[in-house]
Amino acid sequence: MRTQVAIVGAGPAGLLLGALLHRAGIANVIVEQRSPDYVLGRIRAGLLEQGTTELLLQAGAGARMQREGIPHEGVELAFNGTRLRIDFQALTGQRMTIYGQTEVTRDLMDQRAALGLPTVYEAEAAQPHGFDGTHPWVSYRKDGVEHHLAADFIAGCDGFHGICRAALPAGAVSCFEKVYPFGWLGILADTPPVSHELIYGQGERGFSLATMRSTTRSRYYLQCALDDDIKGWSDDAFWAELKLRLPPDVAARLVTGPSIEKSIAPLRSFVAEPMRFGRLFLAGDAAHIVPPTGAKGLNLAASDVALLASSLADFYAGAGGDTVGLDHYSQRALARVWKAERFSWWFTSLMHRFPETGGFGSRMQQAEFDYLCGSEAAQRVLAENYVGLPLAV
Ligand code: APR
Ligand code: PHB
Repeated sequence: MRTQVAIVGAGPAGLLLGALLHRAGIANVIVEQRSPDYVLGRIRAGLLEQGTTELLLQAGAGARMQREGIPHEGVELAFNGTRLRIDFQALTGQRMTIYGQTEVTRDLMDQRAALGLPTVYEAEAAQPHGFDGTHPWVSYRKDGVEHHLAADFIAGCDGFHGICRAALPAGAVSCFEKVYPFGWLGILADTPPVSHELIYGQGERGFSLATMRSTTRSRYYLQCALDDDIKGWSDDAFWAELKLRLPPDVAARLVTGPSIEKSIAPLRSFVAEPMRFGRLFLAGDAAHIVPPTGAKGLNLAASDVALLASSLADFYAGAGGDTVGLDHYSQRALARVWKAERFSWWFTSLMHRFPETGGFGSRMQQAEFDYLCGSEAAQRVLAENYVGLPLAV
């Protein structure tokens, strides 16, 4: 089989890249190791920047999001008993949209299937080859048969544990990482959200977040110890702890119910540089991870693939193969990635209790929050980063 762009991974990055390339008339094949149901079964954040919603519309996969997504014009911070609302609309003119990553993935998958674009699910042992030359290819095994997918370019959209970054020669990539000394315990429940807007909380007992998937489905998170056993967190224990961390009037109106999903996720900041090696390009979680505070993961994946798709479109549009965009992809993508890394790290640092934080550290957090409360400039900095910095395209 031969195509123009071989995409490894059918998460949101790979699927959105495939859709944008198709719109630009560029043939692509996606090779994914899991089944569609497995991919859709992953529960992740559900908060889209305006730039991401615009990309989904541009890709032709935004109709349901436009109907069912819930626009949010602000967010609340509750810090040691003081509440602060950050008004995105007033401070930046932009809004966020609540629409689950599962739904984004489903819409892109459905669109891809409706267009008849090739996706190989349950492909085993995918491996990129020859990307330091002009004829790269991806090998994989499907139903016991070896396949060879020849392409002009390979896009590594295969997530943090994928094969593309791992296939790079030793020394070709520098990795920067920070692992946080706590995790997020998340619960999904078919109960009405406790508040129309998100509430990020920080106090004596640690971080909490009240978010949602829809007007009837809530998502809550609690900072927990990394070695906490999920079996030790009954639904009752979760709700009881959440009530202690939410502001009292919010806790009083919390509607609880049986969880439909419960899991613990570690928090990590990670960047691999560069994001291009010859004809192999990394995008999304394959190249970087952010801690979930601020929900930048999916949005960063979207901005990477927008840049990659437009660089590839420039290449194919020019008869001589305009490589300027491709040559600058890594540098331009990383410029935005590092800013989102900075914001996610800052927001995580402000809103969590760190085991090593002594009296000085907690007063620094308090001073940071007090400064935010008193300074519109500081609020605008938060808002501008939260709604997403401009795409590098
Ligand atoms: N061969 C083929 N597919 C692979 C391989 C492999 N060797 N390794 C991983 N994959 C697939 C995974 O099964 C997954 O479906 O690549 C896909 C990567 O998807 P994600 O992990 O969702 O990453 P990405 O598309 O970059 O999405 C970024 O997802 O992890 C969240 O916080 C992140 O919200 C952000 C978004
Ligand atoms: C979510 O809705 O799951 C979510 C929202 C905001 C975050 C993280 C997760 O910062």
